[in-house]
Amino acid sequence: MSLEEEINKRRTFGIISHPDAGKTTLTEKLLLFGGAIQSAGAVKSNKIKKAATSDFMEIEKQRGISVATSVMAFNYKDTKINILDTPGHKDFAEDTYRTLTAVDSVIMVIDCANGVEAQTKKLMEVCRMRNTPVIVFINKMDREGQDAFDLLDEIENTLDIKVRPLSWPIGIGATFKGVYNMHEKHLNLFDSNKTKIEQDIVSIKNLDDPALTDKIGEQAADKLREDVELIEGVYDEFDEEKYKSGEIAPVFFGSALNNFGVQELLDTFIKIAPFPRSRETNVKVVNPTDKDFSGFIFKIHANLDPKHRDRIAFLRICSGKFERNKFYQHVRIDKKVRFNNPTSFMAQDKSVIDEAFPGDVIGLYDTGNFKIGDTLTEGENMEFQGIPSFSPEIFKELINKDPMKTKQLEKGIQQLTDEGVAQLFIQQPGNRKIVGTVGELQFEVIQYRLKHEYGASAEFQPKNFHKACWMTSDNDEKIDEFARRKAQYIAKDKDDNYVFLAQTAFLLQSAEADYPEITFHTTSEFKRAIA
Ligand code: G4P
Repeated sequence: MSLEEEINKRRTFGIISHPDAGKTTLTEKLLLFGGAIQSAGAVKSNKIKKAATSDFMEIEKQRGISVATSVMAFNYKDTKINILDTPGHKDFAEDTYRTLTAVDSVIMVIDCANGVEAQTKKLMEVCRMRNTPVIVFINKMDREGQDAFDLLDEIENTLDIKVRPLSWPIGIGATFKGVYNMHEKHLNLFDSNKTKIEQDIVSIKNLDDPALTDKIGEQAADKLREDVELIEGVYDEFDEEKYKSGEIAPVFFGSALNNFGVQELLDTFIKIAPFPRSRETNVKVVNPTDKDFSGFIFKIHANLDPKHRDRIAFLRICSGKFERNKFYQHVRIDKKVRFNNPTSFMAQDKSVIDEAFPGDVIGLYDTGNFKIGDTLTEGENMEFQGIPSFSPEIFKELINKDPMKTKQLEKGIQQLTDEGVAQLFIQQPGNRKIVGTVGELQFEVIQYRLKHEYGASAEFQPKNFHKACWMTSDNDEKIDEFARRKAQYIAKDKDDNYVFLAQTAFLLQSAEADYPEITFHTTSEFKRAIA
């Protein structure tokens, strides 16, 4: 098969949702359709527990599980589908944001009763940053929920994206009868059944077809005709190009738990979802069809076995063909590296692969050479953009409790932050280590792992910072001047950039007012963009 054919058959995407909306259930149903798993429950039993937990066994288990389920690949109707898992727990949000840099599109699951929720909004913001195409799946239609029109309005208003329903629900909760597929003009009748894959699809010629009334009754048929007329009048025709540029999101209704609406979602997905897209580097745009291989690391996971310090780095292939045992350029450290057991993840199985293509995600065993955002190429000196760090929300200073283990602590915190568990900022004088995260759980994870994997004892002292801001200016002297004046609130990030640790929103505003020449950013993405 030619490189182009390999690329065209791949779809790499993430499922995102606020916890509990049904992401795990939908993932599992998609895997069932793809024949990648045989029974419902296979993914579920592995799912990351959502409650914040101090049970360290649980944390360990989660790390292992998320390696296993980070990528799930399966074949469906000649398409190779790669689902990248995004942790549901909000404390792992940054991990999710980074994973989204490696997908070409997303499916967003929304609970029909809760509508748009806090995590949904944040995730959508990340999708907007790179115009990632979004398909919306409104889930749990078998339960009482909000009116479908209200839900669509809420999505448009709070997520700032246009929507276009492609299916329409008939009733909801107790009165839910099924959905009408507006594109294919057929009825899909609901039958509560959690394991069945085939569904009863009734084709009708049009909404005046007597078969409609026969199947769903007079009242429901009238309501459906009215709704569809309204939709056709209010919403523009579905425009695939606008979906691909992230301007409009097609919407489906269903019930993942009951396997309902999942197949039409999947069938539409493989028809419209973009295949591997071009990506920007600091020197040029890389097209997947470019002959030379390139890719970037978006996630790093420590291995489960603490006795072996090796890690798995997840590489998204962006162009060309990746081959086992071939030497590639590790751009940041300017070294040739090769991999003799690169791994692919077909559903639950890991296996060593000889080659992989754009859109694929493979696992590379790493002994500490990789950081998130690293680029591999066939020799070219370029780096992929847009693996951002976001400002953490909680800051704490790492205090060494065992001076005999200083070296271990230094190494441990460095490696854990390379993995992206948290961000490390170094403050002077005294090389003070400020650790920033998006959730409390991370501090527990770090403390535990420093002890068990590096033998270092540490504790955390809360720091009262509101945001970490990266700075840019046309005049670098201004940044230096600012750094001198505000020395006690300045730190350096992993790439040696100055970061302003603003104590309050007010102090950040005053800094902006006092230093109009400096732009303060709460994500680090701009750095590569201006490089
Ligand atoms: P998440 O990954 O987005 O966090 O959500 P998950 O799939 O775990 O689903 C959260 C809960 O919602 C689960 O119930 C799941 O069974 C239920 N659910 C998912 N899809 C549907 C649906 O279409 N209809 C209904 N009625 N429920 C749905 P749980 O009680 O938390 O877990 P479990 O005891 O079922 O495992």
